[in-house]
Amino acid sequence: MSVTKNGFPRVVLKKDIKRRILNGHPWVYDNEIERIEGNPEDGSLVDVYTFAGQFIGRGYINRLSRITIRLLTRRPEEIDSDFWKRKIVDALRNRYHFVKEDAFRVLFGEADGVPGLIVDKFSSYLVLQVNTLGIYKRLESIVPVLIETLNPTGIFVIMEGSSVQKEGLKEEKHWIFGSGPELIPFEVNGLKFLADLRGQKTGAFLDQRENARMLSNFAQGRVCLDCFSYTGNFGMHLLKGGAKFVTFVDYSERAIEVAREIAKLNNFTNCDFVIANAFDFLKKLYGESKLFDLIVLDPPSFAKSAANRESAYKGYKEINYRSMKLLRNDGILATSSCTQVISQQEFENILIDAGTDARVIMRILHRGGQPLDHPQVYNILETMYLKFFVLQISHL
Ligand SMILES: C[S@@+](CC[C@H](N)C(=O)[O-])C[C@H]1O[C@@H](n2cnc3c(N)ncnc32)[C@H](O)[C@@H]1O
Repeated sequence: MSVTKNGFPRVVLKKDIKRRILNGHPWVYDNEIERIEGNPEDGSLVDVYTFAGQFIGRGYINRLSRITIRLLTRRPEEIDSDFWKRKIVDALRNRYHFVKEDAFRVLFGEADGVPGLIVDKFSSYLVLQVNTLGIYKRLESIVPVLIETLNPTGIFVIMEGSSVQKEGLKEEKHWIFGSGPELIPFEVNGLKFLADLRGQKTGAFLDQRENARMLSNFAQGRVCLDCFSYTGNFGMHLLKGGAKFVTFVDYSERAIEVAREIAKLNNFTNCDFVIANAFDFLKKLYGESKLFDLIVLDPPSFAKSAANRESAYKGYKEINYRSMKLLRNDGILATSSCTQVISQQEFENILIDAGTDARVIMRILHRGGQPLDHPQVYNILETMYLKFFVLQISHL
């Protein structure tokens, strides 16, 4: 580790800041800052100090964002190629056996000490989700290290969504190294998949692959519904596990088109595909005789901030209630929430509430969550977002 002789512009925090930052959280909000010395350019490095003058850490600044500084290190060290290499090597070490898989998340932002950067690996390609100006400005030093450590055929960069706008960045998507197909083939649990570079997030949701593999144990002979399916991760696992039939539902035409392609790649024919709003789809079936033996719910985040928790609560209750009603007796409900501002306990309370109204007994078959390559850090609550339950539903 090389230590810089002269520090970077100093940012001094207010006297009464919460212990959150001192206890390991990397974010400094605008209202926690007493003064910024030396007028640093947005995206550049700064050194953060307590009001009493104690060095806290080094990170990058962006005055446009409410999260004005994201700390990269707690030491006065250089943020150079060696630094990024250490971060990648540490992250790979922490993935244990996952590094042998064809597809996994290499870096998960704050949880791996690289705030603002997500890197997913799909076979020999890397897809980067860049969420901050500070990371955007450092891509020139990060990309060569990714090439050196992981030897990819191509690296694709995605900058889109509300976080990018908040950082004052322009939305863009492009190959930054090499090139590759729009649909990148990769394998998960012996199944063929495609990461869609015109699709959502990095092209595929890798966070549910362990939960899907586990759920496939319950598939044999069952008629299943994969609701909010995206390109069909859960349903494909169910078909591999011996499901009798799977219906995939998503409102994204593109996602369903790719799901059809993936089913073909795996030679699955006992399935159908519906482009529909899942809320309307579940409502329309309501009251019909019990149609499914197993239902998967994996909706998008229903609330970005605590202010919308109420509506998220209503949304979760509705889809879970309706699904419970649509299941045959002793059927299985696999239900997820990726809304970070709803805790595991709160999500369980919603399920209990829905179950009470639906007049069912709910037996917990499995509690899942995030896989090792989406690390959860207690000191950084924002890294903990995925809840997953497999419930057996028996009608009273
Ligand atoms: C978290 S993703 C699902 C990921 C998928 N289960 C997987 O493991 O790859 C949520 C999906 O819900 C879809 N979606 C969002 N709102 C919807 C709605 N109201 N009706 C149907 N689909 C919706 C999105 O298009 C997206 O594909």
